[in-house]
Amino acid sequence: MATKESSGDPMEKLVALCKRRGFIFQGSEIYGGLAGTWDYGPLGALLNENIKKYWRHTFLDTREDTYLLDASIMMHPQVWKASGHTEGFTDPLVEDKVTHKRYRADHLLEEQGVDVHDLSLEEMGKKMAELKMKSPEGNPLTEPKIFNLLVEAGIGAVEGAKEKVYLRGEITQGVQVNFKNVVDAFHPKLPFGIAQIGKAFRNEIVPGNFLFRVREFEQMELQYYITPEIEEGGRQYEYWKGVSMHWYQGLGISAERLRFRQHEAHERAHYAKDAWDIEYHTPFGWKEAWGIHHRGDWDLARHQEHSGVPMTYTTDSGEKILPWIIETSGGLGRALLFTMLDAYHEDEIGGEKRVVLRFKPSIAPIKVAVFPLLKNKPELVAKARSVYEALKKEIPETLWDDNGNIGKRYRRQDEIGTPFCITVDFDTLENNSVTVRERDSGAQERVALAELSFYVQEKIRHS
Ligand code: GAP
Repeated sequence: MATKESSGDPMEKLVALCKRRGFIFQGSEIYGGLAGTWDYGPLGALLNENIKKYWRHTFLDTREDTYLLDASIMMHPQVWKASGHTEGFTDPLVEDKVTHKRYRADHLLEEQGVDVHDLSLEEMGKKMAELKMKSPEGNPLTEPKIFNLLVEAGIGAVEGAKEKVYLRGEITQGVQVNFKNVVDAFHPKLPFGIAQIGKAFRNEIVPGNFLFRVREFEQMELQYYITPEIEEGGRQYEYWKGVSMHWYQGLGISAERLRFRQHEAHERAHYAKDAWDIEYHTPFGWKEAWGIHHRGDWDLARHQEHSGVPMTYTTDSGEKILPWIIETSGGLGRALLFTMLDAYHEDEIGGEKRVVLRFKPSIAPIKVAVFPLLKNKPELVAKARSVYEALKKEIPETLWDDNGNIGKRYRRQDEIGTPFCITVDFDTLENNSVTVRERDSGAQERVALAELSFYVQEKIRHS
């Protein structure tokens, strides 16, 4: 059976595969790249879409109590003042005095085995001096200072008089500032949720580990509005933790590589009363994949205070209350990265080594590839084209491939995780059946053309 991988850095191999096969490219690559940005190529974009579709299915399409929203990326600076981000959305920064490269002080200390929990900025500075810490290049470092992660932009047509705005640091605030609008338009009963998928921006001091820590990324979030009575005994919080973990496993990721971890008080974001992460076991350790946060009435109370607009909800008994919020929030890029890391295998099939992405068929960017057995037999090619065209109408993620021999085509499809390969051969011309080859086992089955689409779709549905 499969080995997870042979020697070599699994992240480097994945980055190389992503570029070679058109999943993901470095942002602005031809100009030397822009740190913390990645562009999704044709297969990466399809994979993203499938993950988003699956998220919408769980958090929106199969529920009666959630609403979709799509808010602006640029938001009024007051939003971020009210939400606490201009003050609290910070990391401790140090700079190499020679190269001017910047680092996270807490990360450098952690690498030295220092427990940074509960250390203030000054204490971090003292500890670094005590340990005579140098930058990774061996140069002296500046004192740690607070660095805000919000990304600024200027808007307005008059040069020099541009208005400062922030690109949203979390998509959440677009939902919170529209809470009243949704309530007034739809009169939902509590509990209910507002779901959103969209880009967020963070000026991360040290982006890295491929898609893991970037400066521009997409988030998928549900803000679920409740009352203390509805939450009694932590019911909703536990429920949303369960739904989120179940969703993550549903990406096809092995359960033993996922776990929950509760934040200690000092780690919690400024808005959170309680916070749990779903973590994935990456080649660089257990890392945050997803966050489930109890935000209490922090956001609505703060926006009410700062805007002067009441953010209250009127209950059936006429009482005006500020609901509590449970949020479940995850990065799309991290979901894609962890899905790919988990799917990546090197094994042997029919005595030949291969790289295979064992995507769950419903998540795979390409579902089916159709080949003619031989490229130089017009009658085979014509038949195979007709099979391909018919299938593509039913399953849009169907691909045509007639390059190289069959073995090479299988290897190519394995490497991008295509679950089913269909070969049209001379028997097809006789009896209208084709060979369907399954990616992981390599098992082949003869299927009648009349049943082909149903056969493949059922396999995808039950994956
Ligand atoms: N609204 C809550 C919120 O934004 P968060 O824990 O800061 O909470 C939620 O972010 C998720 O967004 C994380 O679990 C992670 O998946 C993703 N995320 C956060 N920062 C990221 C970054 N710099 N690069 C990639 N993904 C990131």
